Parts: sequence; structure tokens; C-alpha cells
Amino acid sequence: MVARVASRLSLGGFRQMHAQRHAPADHAQSLAAAVRRVTTRSLQKLASRTSGPEPAGGFPVLEGGLPVIGHLYEMYRSFPELCARGAAAHGPNFYIEAGPGVRQLMCTAPTALQVLKHSAASTSFYAEGFSALLEGTLFALDGDEHRGVRQAITPPFTPQRVRRSDVVSIVVDAHRRRIDSWLRRREFDVVTETREIALEIIFRILGVPPVHLPQWERQYNRYLVAGLPANVLKGPLYWYAIRARTWIDEHLGAMVDELRASGDGSTLAGAMANARGEDGRLLERDAAVRNLRVLVFAGHETTASAIAWSTLHLASSNELQQRAVAEVQGMDDLGAVATDGARFTFAEAMFREALRLYPPVHSVIRRARGPIDLDGATIPENTLVNIPIVHLLREPARFPNPGRFDADRWIERPRPGTVETAMFGGGPHFCLGYHIAITEGTLFNLLLARALHRNKLVLERVDDGPVPTPTYLPLTHPPRNTMMRFVPSSRNDFHSEGFEHARYADQ
Ligand code: HEM
Repeated sequence: MVARVASRLSLGGFRQMHAQRHAPADHAQSLAAAVRRVTTRSLQKLASRTSGPEPAGGFPVLEGGLPVIGHLYEMYRSFPELCARGAAAHGPNFYIEAGPGVRQLMCTAPTALQVLKHSAASTSFYAEGFSALLEGTLFALDGDEHRGVRQAITPPFTPQRVRRSDVVSIVVDAHRRRIDSWLRRREFDVVTETREIALEIIFRILGVPPVHLPQWERQYNRYLVAGLPANVLKGPLYWYAIRARTWIDEHLGAMVDELRASGDGSTLAGAMANARGEDGRLLERDAAVRNLRVLVFAGHETTASAIAWSTLHLASSNELQQRAVAEVQGMDDLGAVATDGARFTFAEAMFREALRLYPPVHSVIRRARGPIDLDGATIPENTLVNIPIVHLLREPARFPNPGRFDADRWIERPRPGTVETAMFGGGPHFCLGYHIAITEGTLFNLLLARALHRNKLVLERVDDGPVPTPTYLPLTHPPRNTMMRFVPSSRNDFHSEGFEHARYADQ
């Protein structure tokens, strides 16, 4: 039906317009006919995909989807509201149209996190849709194959090893230098800047020498073009991205060879390159390269987005800045504080709250390789299941007044459980970089607070409006060009010695 309507509207109009303007020109007519043929074919193909497979399992389809794009625009602009609307209308499980022909079963109850542990829940979706980015990496492997690679490369990601490796010194150095550069500028765009820091950190963790960073950044940005769905784009841009991937893999391969020759496992990259499977053999070289490469993809936009959100809230609240500054007074070794698992700082609470309110990965997707039972219902084989993390992290019973940025909810709670860490996924694919991300975000907040304290400054938004609202595709992120600046704190007294809000300092 959509194809018929589209074909009438667009091609009829095109024909009429074309006939009026260029009636005598034969070549124009044949061009129009060719365009018509191609457009009709594309629209018919699109329309046949829009309707998708029949909604299986007896779950309802959420109303309000648009022709062709379904609920895609609502996902982009207001994904949490879409989830809440669906759950209110249909209960926890319902289908949405996440684009032409892509029907996803939304499972919005916290129990849906159990699906991630089910043996029939497959991550094949990542290889289907984003093969150039994720094929052959941890993300897209299942079962024993995933277990084998994950076990081999997990050790350097544990909190003890992160603390002992070069990660903390790299993070401190990169954050400190970047914050210093902001102090020298009139204003800066927090979103662009935090992305650049996160990218620099992950490249340096991989062992890229600082002088080569611009070249790696360039290649990496080209490679990201491969993130466009593979079936839509297999033209010149795709091959441009693949060429950049080849460049990255060749260079990472050379690094792996070097690290293997030296046997050095003291750095995170060294430990990954020298990772051994259960049989004691070195991980296959290609697997080591692919999984080093995916760290950049997994670890930079995510961390950058959460740091940007926590900075946006900090800049919008004098009270938050007072408490952040009070905390760092009297702290010496910020690296040790940030990696101390027994100490829950206000800086960490702010970072976790940013991740709760704006989880960069708003949904985790799985393909059901067989039937999966969930709360008395059965998810049929082949269903694409969407577990909307962003919705789970706004459950009012667990997070009262869920739309409010409230770092204290993390101070008052015991250590976070399965739902409280859902922004990092769940089950066997739970984020490998969890401890690195928390260290990175906490350290950033501590170092920023120390810069405010030492320089007697306050951070403020240039446009002074409310904290902007996010968009959700592909990741949850704030708008670019959100400018900030430092101003002298003469208007505030919170840098004075007598400031009493040291509730979280040196606990
Ligand atoms: C705040 C920052 C981060 C967030 C919110 C985040 C979120 C996530 C989520 C939700 C997943 C699970 C995806 C799924 O199950 O489909 C995941 C997986 C993963 N993350 Fe992170 N991540 C962050 C930072 C990092 C960092 C810094 C690294 C590496 C240095 C990293 C490496 C990975 C890897 C390798 C996986 C795949 C694990 C597997 O499939 O076994 N992440 N992350």
C-alpha cells in the first residue's frame, strides 16, 4: 500500500512536472523513465520491508508509527517517552517499528535483563547490521566462541590490574592537559572536547605514541563511516571506510607483533596482545587485532557522552560545584582515590548519575535463536529483542523523581546492583571496560573540581539556558556547540577556607 501511495504521489507528480517543462526532449523522457523505474523499485522494496514479518508471539504493535520509518523518529527524539507510552498502553512487552522492516520486541520490565543471560539470546544482530565495525569482535560472538576470547582478554580489565597498569597515569595526564587548555581559552565546546579526550585516552591505552594521534584520529573517523548499516551502503563510502580499517588493523597488527616479541604484559595493550586462551596458546593474531580495534569503538563515544553530561549539570549548578570542590580539598593522589573501590566519591556519584539519566547505550539488542521465556510469556525464535536500558534506569520505584539529576541517589544507596549497572549491559557481554570507564569519569570530575579550586574559578554555560535535551540515535548524546567558560569565583564564596560542605571529602 505504501508503495502504491508513494508511487502515485512522487512519480505522478514528477511525470507531470517533467512533461510540462521538457516535453520535446527525448533524452529527458528516457531519463525520467529510468529514474521512475529505479525509484519505483526502491520504494516497493522499502514498502515490502516496512511491513516486516507478522508480529509473532501475540505481542501487540505500538500505535503511532509513521509510514516507512515507523517509530524511528520518536526513538531518535524521545526514546524514554516512547518506552513509557508503550508500557502504559500495552504492558511491558510490545513491538515497535525501528525503521523499514525492522520490528523489535520491546521488553521494558527490569526482569528483561534476564534475557541477556539466556543461552538462546544471540548478538548476531551486530554482525548482521554492522559487520564492518563489529564482525569477529567480542560484541558479535556468541556462546563458547565468545567465552573463549573474553576469558583470554579479561584479566587486564579487572580493577586491580587497571590500578596497576598505565591506564590511570594516561587518564590523569590527558584530562589534566585538556582542562589546562580550557583554562587558557575564552570558551570551549564541551561535547567536541570530551570526545577528543576520550579518543586520545583510548589510543594512548592501545600504545599509539602521542605524536601519531592526529593520524590515528583521522583514520578512525573515516572508519566510523562503516557504522552506517551495511545493507544500505556498500558503495564508495563503504570502501573508503574499509580502507581506513585496513590501515588501523595493519598498524595494530605491527603493535601486537612488537608486544608479543617483548612479552611485555605490564600495559593494558601488552596484556591483551599477550593474552592466552584456556589451552595456554596465544590468542589468534587477527582476534587480538580486532578486539584491540573494537576498544576504540566501545570506549570513546560512550565515556565522552557521559562526561559531557556530568559537566553540563556541573556547569548549571553552583551547589554541585561547591560540593565537587569541597571534596577535592585535602585530596592528594586523585588516581588512588578514583580507583579505590571502597570509597564512593561525589565525583563518581555525579558520573554514575549522568550515566543513569543519559545512558549512552540506550538499548541492548538480541536475536532470539530459540524460544525464550519471560515472565510467563514466550518470545518466539528469531525475534529481535530490545531491552531499553534508558527506561529501566528511570523506573520510579527504584529511582524516585527519575527525570531529576540527583547524584545523591548514588551516595545513599548500597553498592549498585544489576539494574543500577544496566547502563553497562548485563550477562556475558557486560561491558569489559566498566572499571576503566568509571575510573575515567570519576577522575575527570575530580580533576575538574581541583582546577576550579586551585584557580578560584566557576564553570558556566555560555548561553546559560537549561541543560539541553538529548537525542538518542545512534547513541544518547548532547547537542554539539554547547559552549562553556570559566569565570572568577568572586561572585561565589565556595572556594574560601571555611566552606563547610566537605561531606564527601576524605571519607
Ligand atoms: C561510560 C562508558 C561506557 C558505557 C556506557 C559502555 C556500555 C557498554 C554496554 C551497554 C555494553 C554491552 C553491549 C551489549 O551487550 O550488547 C558494552 C560492552 C563492551 N564494552 Fe563498554 N561501555 C563504556 C565504556 C567502555 C570502555 C572505556 C571500554 C574499553 C576500554 C569498553 C569496552 C567494551 C567491550 C569490549 C564490550 C563488549 C563486551 C562483550 O561483548 O563481551 N566499554 N559496553
